[in-house]
Amino acid sequence: SAAGPLKDITTRWVGSAVAAGPLGSQADYRSVLTREFDSVTPENEMKWAVVEPDRGQFNWSGADAIVNYAQQNGKSVRGHTLVWHSQYPGWLNNLGAAELRSVTQQHINTEMGRYRGKIRAWDVVNEIFEENGSRRQSIFQTRMGDGFVADAFRWARAADPSAKLYINDYNTEGINAKSDAVYNLVRTLKQQGVPIDGVGIQTHLATRYGFPSSFRQNIERLAALGVDIAITEADVRVQLPVDSTKLNQQANYYKQIWDACHAVSRCVEFTTWGYTDRHSWVPGTFPGEGAACLFDSNLRPKPAYSRINP
Ligand code: XIL
Repeated sequence: SAAGPLKDITTRWVGSAVAAGPLGSQADYRSVLTREFDSVTPENEMKWAVVEPDRGQFNWSGADAIVNYAQQNGKSVRGHTLVWHSQYPGWLNNLGAAELRSVTQQHINTEMGRYRGKIRAWDVVNEIFEENGSRRQSIFQTRMGDGFVADAFRWARAADPSAKLYINDYNTEGINAKSDAVYNLVRTLKQQGVPIDGVGIQTHLATRYGFPSSFRQNIERLAALGVDIAITEADVRVQLPVDSTKLNQQANYYKQIWDACHAVSRCVEFTTWGYTDRHSWVPGTFPGEGAACLFDSNLRPKPAYSRINP
């Protein structure tokens, strides 16, 4: 007895990470996605290791399938992700600084260029900070230095001027050393005229860690820098086996995420990292935890869904 699909009860984009596999092979997965959401983020299909596993050898099949689905069904696409320390192809490790730099610019050009005009927002850089707020020592950082971030944004703007350009990270929901680092960097980039449009807050939460109480305050301070905010990868994992107490606690978390975004006009997107427990990265990544999504594995709405959309 929901008021209507999620996408129709809010002015924010409501998205989910999607995988090309089930999108192509499971009619029920596809149809609930189409009914409830108006934005999709490829879960893995646009990552560098997937699109260019060997130098100059491109595989766009999964990314194309998702973008085609979006175009045919009137969905918006969040591109994920261009420069990341994880899921990049091994051949990058053999490159010196100058070559890594030109190859990274080329990668941004090629991938953004392929989908130019079809992607609403791109996660240009992902997870560049450590928990203590220092720069993560990725190959991009160690070979190109701090400036790789500004460079990536400038290359990205040139590659597709129609896309909103985001920095994205996790454990940056509340006010802490890591979200301070994001805040300070975005402020500096804006001051320097670097083309950055938004901050993505992944929002992978676990009920046993407590809800980040300064979430809304953090969104507010970031928005005050003059950028958009997106909840890019929300999920709320619980310790297995689940029971109704845990599902209700999870529902409260989802509702608080939803409300925090809706409290700030510049928070423009609420995207979950998968929408059904049938396809979620959580059980494979966090042993003993799972059931992190809004829908169960039979695509039935869970208490979290009903809390957001009563
Ligand atoms: C995850 C995918 O969900 C998994 O399928 C894959 O094996 C690893 O990556 N932060 C991100 C996402 O920015 O790209 C990650 O996605 C989850 C954490």
